[in-house]
Amino acid sequence: MTDLSRPTPPGALPDKRQVAASFSRAAASYDSVAALQRAVGSNLLEQLPEGLQPSRWLDLGSGTGHFSRALAESFPQASGVAVDIAEGMLCHARNEQGGALYHVAGDAERLPLRDASVDLVFTSLAVQWCDQFTSVLAEALRVLRPGGVLAFSSLCVGTLDELRASWQAVDGLVHVNRFRRFEDYQRLCAASGFEQLGLQRCPHVLHYPDVRSLTHELKALGAHNLNPGRPSGLTGRARMQGLLQAYEAFRQPEGLPATYQVVYGLLRKPQA
Ligand SMILES: C[S@@+](CC[C@H](N)C(=O)[O-])C[C@H]1O[C@@H](n2cnc3c(N)ncnc32)[C@H](O)[C@@H]1O
Repeated sequence: MTDLSRPTPPGALPDKRQVAASFSRAAASYDSVAALQRAVGSNLLEQLPEGLQPSRWLDLGSGTGHFSRALAESFPQASGVAVDIAEGMLCHARNEQGGALYHVAGDAERLPLRDASVDLVFTSLAVQWCDQFTSVLAEALRVLRPGGVLAFSSLCVGTLDELRASWQAVDGLVHVNRFRRFEDYQRLCAASGFEQLGLQRCPHVLHYPDVRSLTHELKALGAHNLNPGRPSGLTGRARMQGLLQAYEAFRQPEGLPATYQVVYGLLRKPQA
């Protein structure tokens, strides 16, 4: 995940093979800790244009298939394709009842689908893992039929800032994934060739009793820090103690807050 507000030095991005391996490993634990992901994906489903009747939908970055099953229920006449970069996630989704008809391993930046082959691209909390959001938009535009809809949710700058700031107080290493600025989502969507139906940023704040609950959850989701520059090996006791102390400065009556700045986008491919 790249914060495009700063130029990215070569090799500063998470390696896609590592992203795929991390999510594959997390397939079994993901659903038990995915409360935020459920809430965000449900919000995104609710934002789909009224009267939309796709004959084929794509769930991109489909994970364990929760939203493929929701799409199949919403559009019983349609057939669905689930694409994910993590084989482990696809295996998990294939073993569940309902959902997509096809499960295909692939990259959002180079979709393994024909031009103008789907009417809806639904992608929830996956594209923040893509270095080139321009390529994601271009690929969605390519595979959508004229009039088709891209609905996406993602994360932007401001996400997990409490954890980032707490680590900053301990050392200067990269402990937290980087995110694009909201302004970059605005700029890239405006230049994408899509008609914009909606683009907004909403904060979601989760609370944890302690820092370990948050870091364990990120690991169980497969969404922990994968950036080059991250510290290798286990975190020493003194540094962990420093982190716990620094995070306490953020404590609220509900617990330790973790802020997610969620971006919701709704775009339509022009008819002509
Ligand atoms: C946080 S999970 C979200 C899963 C699901 N959409 C949900 O909301 O529960 C992110 C998913 O995106 C997938 N992913 C990450 N990078 C991807 C890429 N470049 N192309 C396709 N899928 C990707 C991961 O393997 C993972 O399954």
